[in-house]
Amino acid sequence: MCGIVGAVAERNITAILIEGLKRLEYRGYDSAGLAVLSEQGLERRRRIGKVSELQAAVAADPLLGKLGIAHTRWATHGAPTEENAHPHFSGHDVAVVHNGIIENHEELRDELKGLGYAFASQTDTEVIVHLIHHLLKTTPDLTAALKAAVKRLHGAYGLAVISTSQPDRLVAARSGSPLVIGLGLGENFLASDQLALRQVTDRFMYLEEGDIAEIRRDQVLVWDQAGEPVQRETVQHSEGAEAADKGVYRHFMLKEIHEQPAVVQRTLEGRLGKDHVMVQAFGPQAAELFAKVRNVQIVACGTSYHAGMVARYWLESLAGIPCQVEVASEFRYRKVAVQPDTLLVSISQSGETADTLAALRNAKELGFLGSLAICNVGISSLVRESDLTLLTLAGPEIGVASTKAFTTQLVSLMLLTLALGQVRGSLAAGVEAELVEELRRLPARLGEALAMDHVVEKTAELFADKHHTLFLGRGAQYPVAMEGALKLKEISYIHAEAYPAGELKHGPLALVDGDMPVVTVAPNNELLEKLKSNLQEVRARGGQLVVFADEQAGMSNGEGTHVIKVPHIADALAPILYTIPLQLLSYYVAVLKGTDVDQPRNLAKSVTVE
Ligand code: F6R
Repeated sequence: MCGIVGAVAERNITAILIEGLKRLEYRGYDSAGLAVLSEQGLERRRRIGKVSELQAAVAADPLLGKLGIAHTRWATHGAPTEENAHPHFSGHDVAVVHNGIIENHEELRDELKGLGYAFASQTDTEVIVHLIHHLLKTTPDLTAALKAAVKRLHGAYGLAVISTSQPDRLVAARSGSPLVIGLGLGENFLASDQLALRQVTDRFMYLEEGDIAEIRRDQVLVWDQAGEPVQRETVQHSEGAEAADKGVYRHFMLKEIHEQPAVVQRTLEGRLGKDHVMVQAFGPQAAELFAKVRNVQIVACGTSYHAGMVARYWLESLAGIPCQVEVASEFRYRKVAVQPDTLLVSISQSGETADTLAALRNAKELGFLGSLAICNVGISSLVRESDLTLLTLAGPEIGVASTKAFTTQLVSLMLLTLALGQVRGSLAAGVEAELVEELRRLPARLGEALAMDHVVEKTAELFADKHHTLFLGRGAQYPVAMEGALKLKEISYIHAEAYPAGELKHGPLALVDGDMPVVTVAPNNELLEKLKSNLQEVRARGGQLVVFADEQAGMSNGEGTHVIKVPHIADALAPILYTIPLQLLSYYVAVLKGTDVDQPRNLAKSVTVE
């Protein structure tokens, strides 16, 4: 994912722009660039590779300016070359940086070529800069030209623009790609993530969907989607949401659990069109490659493997694509028979897990159609070595037990399901639009699930003196139960196992007694009645039930049965929502047991050895 930084000040802002880009590097990039308005006019430096390459280029050939914009790029249209790196120029007058995807860029490109503009890159972004340049001929005010330009753009964008004609300002537009203004004293800044600006300010103004902003040294003006002037609230944070600091939380794990609505929102930003998923979000070759996919093979470890297991239900039931999922440590050493036209999907928070990387490397010899990494770290080996990437954008995860990395993986895998189904035409009518709408509502729903925090904390008391727990789920909730069991064992050291509820009577029922709590996730779907029968089997053996049930499932507390009501959600997204109470449950059990929640014994965050 790309990153944007901008500044307007009374001092030279080059170092601020570079530092801001460095802070955004964790999201991934393939090139970086900056442009400043110097005494010579608009000047820029662009480099392929790390921000340090750009920094070295600026050190060798310094740029001085008080107004500037900068960008780290994650290629979607056009290869990662210097020509395709941002900022893009129109003549020597206007410079633009852009996050997102302009869907109608081809049509605009033809139109602008007809007007005499020559294109220097293969990017979708370049149409924006020429369009603004063209509009400035009749609308000399940069803000007015930007307002007119965005009316022509279809797709997602976070934009920052500067022009030699108005050297006192930076203008910005947000639609589907976040932007935040950093407020300084006699200087102001812009970025796609406040993380980039923490070095210069602790006061932020978040732009909302459709906003246009004009940012000068001593003034910030904002207009909303309807073109009306608005005041956006100024928020002060001495620590950003992702600082390596626990903030008000006792542990990083709890903080990261609570960050999920915000990070899921970010996973979705710039990837959803009005009623569809933007296939280009997976990379420039995605549409061509996805059209050929007839099977999917997922490889991953631990929590990421559970995300893959959920995706299998989605890929097969929604997109009709056969899918296999395997733990990477098994896959890498097995003689695998690959079906024709199979896409290899690797899932990893760190992108450095030795087994997952080895599985990807071995797969290169096995005749897969191509590889896609679903990963949280843009500068990781997994990302570098895969054909396509979708970054999960969960931000740094410090707690060893994975939480926000998992839910953002699930969201990314839902995007993959819809993108593959869209390209192959295999989704049922209306499904994509409906799920896109549900995805937009998801951050708010996750917020509602987090409101269960105190109820779950109380429920945790039932587990504090137990040595074993069984987790049950059916359908796509079975991997959610597996993830719940993994969380509990990792941080509370209570032995926990997950079973598909229908398997209970084939063996594990023998374990059930009054000392073995059974945790179940019960959304209101077509398997609910079957699940209820399985729960009767547990109660009949004296087992204590803890059921996270849909508020509409008609389940209530009874002798030995603790029902915790979960807000209703579309069934396809239920695995994401039900994960939250299970994370909270293991967290509070671990707190009661006094274990080291963030760094459980024997475990490491990134398993880079076999
Ligand atoms: C569990 C956990 C691990 C990781 C696994 C894979 O909470 O964090 O099971 O999921 O080690 O790591 P990544 O996703 O970095 O490949």
